[in-house]
Amino acid sequence: MEFQQGAYRIQGIDLIELTKEFGTPLYVYDADKIVHQLKTLKTAFADSNVKIKYAAKALTNLSILKLLKKFGSDVDVVSIQEVQLAMRAGFEPSQIMYTPSGVDFSEIVEAVSLGVTINLDNLSVLRKFGEKYKDTYPCSIRLNPHIMAGGNYKISTGHSNSKFGISIYQLPEIREVVATHGIKINGLHIHTGSDITESDVFLKMADILFSVARDFRDLRFIDFGSGFKVSYKEGDIVTNVYDLGLKLTKSFNEFCQSYGRKLELHFEPGKFIVSEAGVLLVRTNVVKSTPDLTFVGVNSGLNHLIRPMMYDAYHDIVNISNPKAEQKTYTVVGYICETDTLGADRKLNEVREGDILLFKNAGAYGFSMSSNYNSRLKPAEVMIYNGKAMLIREREKFDDLLRNQVEVDI
Ligand code: LLP
Repeated sequence: MEFQQGAYRIQGIDLIELTKEFGTPLYVYDADKIVHQLKTLKTAFADSNVKIKYAAKALTNLSILKLLKKFGSDVDVVSIQEVQLAMRAGFEPSQIMYTPSGVDFSEIVEAVSLGVTINLDNLSVLRKFGEKYKDTYPCSIRLNPHIMAGGNYKISTGHSNSKFGISIYQLPEIREVVATHGIKINGLHIHTGSDITESDVFLKMADILFSVARDFRDLRFIDFGSGFKVSYKEGDIVTNVYDLGLKLTKSFNEFCQSYGRKLELHFEPGKFIVSEAGVLLVRTNVVKSTPDLTFVGVNSGLNHLIRPMMYDAYHDIVNISNPKAEQKTYTVVGYICETDTLGADRKLNEVREGDILLFKNAGAYGFSMSSNYNSRLKPAEVMIYNGKAMLIREREKFDDLLRNQVEVDI
């Protein structure tokens, strides 16, 4: 997104014009930025046999999935519905990595019947899998490395109190189950969390994964999950993927040599691929001054962007319809009947009722975590691709709220 010729634009398209055409609130995604991020990762790890498995959960719109497929991404999914969406978008089963957590075993059986790669994170499930499939269907194992990492406790998944992964201290049990049933282990996986700034976390994971890998002779890949941090505000430290690329590629290639075979190196980025490509455009309903502060109330809220309330996440906010005005301090809030502060004490160019505000970094975990709370409708989504704005999801209508309700006579 750039400020050019007096307006905020994506690929030359004026965002205010977009709000006139498609209304607000509106999610807008820049396809160029998404492709750029994918290429950045592929370049950073070019000297290893890297495969990028885009974490669909960050933004599941079919057109975004199709875009990523077209530009050479595979996909990481966590539910049977995400498997189905990925297949609908055209991914081959072999490109789909399914990492469920706590799902019913029947869902795993369904995923096997579709032919996707299965990644298991529980000993009892591994045992059931072995009893059912023996050596006929390989699977990968998600390990819990007992590493605390990530920007927030809620999104840290590799520590010892996390529900994710099989503890590395349970390796003897893993070996025993694998040997008993002759399971072919085709991959090892660790995902320690989201918003990881230090390359060291990935290098520590590498040490663990490489030492465990020697016990498993049928491996095809090692998966380092994700957690690459992007910049949410000026001065934010981000993961230096080029530095990580150099260091990890070197140790991965050395490991492959000692293992005796070239394996694939996998990552499953969500935020890194789509966060910065997305903006949420909203309209100011009210400006409300109290003796202490001035609120800006917009036609959106935690129902459309839950990250500020859920993780204390910071999303930069810009008043794009009054860009030259003097700056004042505001607290931007939603229209939900709960405290839904989207940004406190923000310096914005003077906000008037009717102004359009833009939230940055709204591509990842924005729409995909949205809800109908307060019986509000979900926004429309637009992708800007090849200089054209394409509607990729219609704004919900009142009928969508009624669709599955069964109205009984009372
Ligand atoms: N792989 C696995 C197994 C994951 O659980 C996740 C994210 C990813 C990959 C992608 O991680 P990323 O590249 O996006 O950091 N809703 C939170 C983030 C939750 C992440 C859940 N798992 C947020 O908005 O910050």
